[in-house]
Formats: sequence, structure tokens, C-alpha cells
Amino acid sequence: MSGIPVLTARDVEAAVSPGEAVEAVREAFLAHHRGEWVMPPKAYVTNYPAGDFRAMPALGAGYTILKWVSSFPGNPERGLPTVNGLVVVSDAETAELRAVMEAGAVTALRTGAAAVLAAETLGKRDAATAAVVGVGVNGRAAVRAFVARGHQVLVWDADESRAAAAAEELGAIVAPSRAEALAADLVVTVTPGHTLLFDEGSLRPGQHVSLMGADGPGKAEISPAELRRTRLFCDDWEQASHGGELAHLAEAGAIARSDVTELGAVLAGEVIGRVSADEITTFDSTGLAIQDLAIVVAAMRRLPELSGLQSFSL
Ligand SMILES: NC(=O)c1ccc[n+]([C@@H]2O[C@H](COP(=O)([O-])OP(=O)(O)OC[C@H]3O[C@@H](n4cnc5c(N)ncnc54)[C@H](O)[C@@H]3O)[C@@H](O)[C@H]2O)c1
Repeated sequence: MSGIPVLTARDVEAAVSPGEAVEAVREAFLAHHRGEWVMPPKAYVTNYPAGDFRAMPALGAGYTILKWVSSFPGNPERGLPTVNGLVVVSDAETAELRAVMEAGAVTALRTGAAAVLAAETLGKRDAATAAVVGVGVNGRAAVRAFVARGHQVLVWDADESRAAAAAEELGAIVAPSRAEALAADLVVTVTPGHTLLFDEGSLRPGQHVSLMGADGPGKAEISPAELRRTRLFCDDWEQASHGGELAHLAEAGAIARSDVTELGAVLAGEVIGRVSADEITTFDSTGLAIQDLAIVVAAMRRLPELSGLQSFSL
């Protein structure tokens, strides 16, 4: 193809399956842990109350990317999407532009993948039930990743019709109640983080929760007291202790860096994840640029097989 390829959301989804995304994100956490993939801190450009923009760069596997993405929570009321953005992909050696990709699809694939990767890595071995609470754009991606990995999935959403639609389209089951979804062995939460899902004392021995929704200041899906009761894992300490669930505990001085294990260290076999079937584990995700890079690398491999791509020249 001449020109720089443009991958729409549909192209990204055609290039990378949810199952492949889980494996790609696993490799990304490992490469980042080894120091091979690097990720400067994400920068926020705020324009509240309308929303904010995030610039998320990363370098690895021969590519440099920048994800430029927005979160405008009031946009759906205006008939506009919450998330708008692009991933710009450059050759790391020559700086030539290699592709441009729609950011929402990249984000959803990597978010669902990280949620399920953490659940499988940190959940108990004989986990029998899996649930996703909040099945909007990114929660649905978590359902797809669970299904791709062979799990039967319960779904629950504050909006009943969304839960029903997600169950039908994705091959999941609507949970009989919110409480039953939250009591699954492996729980993934992907809500806006405006109301707590877990109060103190609500988690049962042996449960794992991947907390995906509270990815920025002022959001929470679990009470700090309940979070402190669990064995703590995160995607990246720097990000999670400033903008994730862990920020509430870190700011109060209730936890230190040594209380929290990054997922990459567990995947690399340097730290044991779950140590007993009764332990409660939590994974605080804020979403990393290296996860986006994982999806980009997987999509770039598939580029020659994708038909009908648009392109542009500068
Ligand atoms: N950690 C990450 O990597 C990552 C990545 C993307 C998005 N997010 C965060 O995840 C959250 C969801 O993002 P999205 O794009 O899927 O949003 P969305 O608006 O598409 O979906 C949110 C869903 O949660 C449901 N919901 C709202 N309150 C609920 C509650 N109390 N209980 C159950 N369901 C509830 C809504 O009905 C909706 O279906 C946001 O806070 C977003 O910032 C995190």
C-alpha cells in the first residue's frame, strides 16, 4: 500500500482478536517489567467540566506511539462519543509515520485483556465463576476476553437493557442480581467509579477483583478500608498511586510502595501472586500506554492481511 494506513475501529477489531489481545498484553507487561518497553508518564490536558484529553506515549518493538484520547462524560447527552482519539504509530528507528489507528478500539481491546489477564493470574486456581460489572464499551471488551479464554461470564449493569444486550451479543448470562455478580470468584468492574460497588467487609475469601473503572482522580469502585483488607496488585505503581484506587490509600499514608505488587513482577515469576486459596486479591488498573502499544504491534503484524484500508500521504 502507498501512503500511511488508517485503521478504523472495525479494522483494529479485525486485526486483533480478544484472545490475541490477552497474549499481546501479557508480553507488554513483561517487556515493560524488563525495561525493554518504556512509557513516559501520561499527560492530562483538562478542560473541565467538559472533559479531559490524555497524551500517552510509549516505545517498544520498533515502534513509538502516541495515543491522544479524550474522556468527555457528558458527550453522549449531546449525541457524541465519550472517547475520541487516535493512536499515531511511528517507526522507532527512522521516525517515519507507519499508521494511524482509532483509539477507542485499541483502548477497549487492551483494557479487557488486562482485566482478564490479571484475573487469571491472580484469581484462585479452581475459580468457577467470572463476572463483569458495568458492560459499557470497555466492560464489553472484558466480557469478550473472558469468553475468548473459555470462561462462562455473568454480566450486570445499572442499565438493565445494556446487560441484556451484552449477554445476548457476547454469549454471557445476565446475573440474577448485582450481589451475585459481585460475589463471583473472578470479578471485573468497569463502571464510571461514581458509586462504590464494594463496601468494607463485602468481599469473600478467595475472590479476585480487577478494578478497571477508577482510572483517574476522584473515582472509586471499592472503599479504601475494603481495598486495604486485600492483597494489592496494580498495573503501574506510579500511575495507580496517583490516579487509581490506590491513590486514596497512598494519600492517607495507609500504604507504601512495598505493599503493592505490579502485575509484571508476578508474570515474570519474581513475586508469587496469590499465596492461598482464601486470599482476596485486587488489581488496580489505570491503563498503560504499553498496553496500547501491545495492540498496535499485534495490528501492525496483520496489516498485510487487512483489505480495504484507507490511507493518506503528507
Ligand atoms: N483501567 C483502564 O485501563 C480503563 C480503560 C478504559 C476506561 N476506563 C474507565 O472505565 C470506566 C468505564 O468506561 P467505559 O468507556 O466502558 O464507559 P461506558 O459509559 O461505556 O460504560 C459504563 C457502564 O457502567 C454502567 N454503570 C454505571 N454505574 C454503574 C454501577 N454503579 N453499577 C453497574 N454498572 C454501572 C453504565 O450503565 C455503563 O453501561 C470509566 O471510568 C473509564 O474511565 C478504564
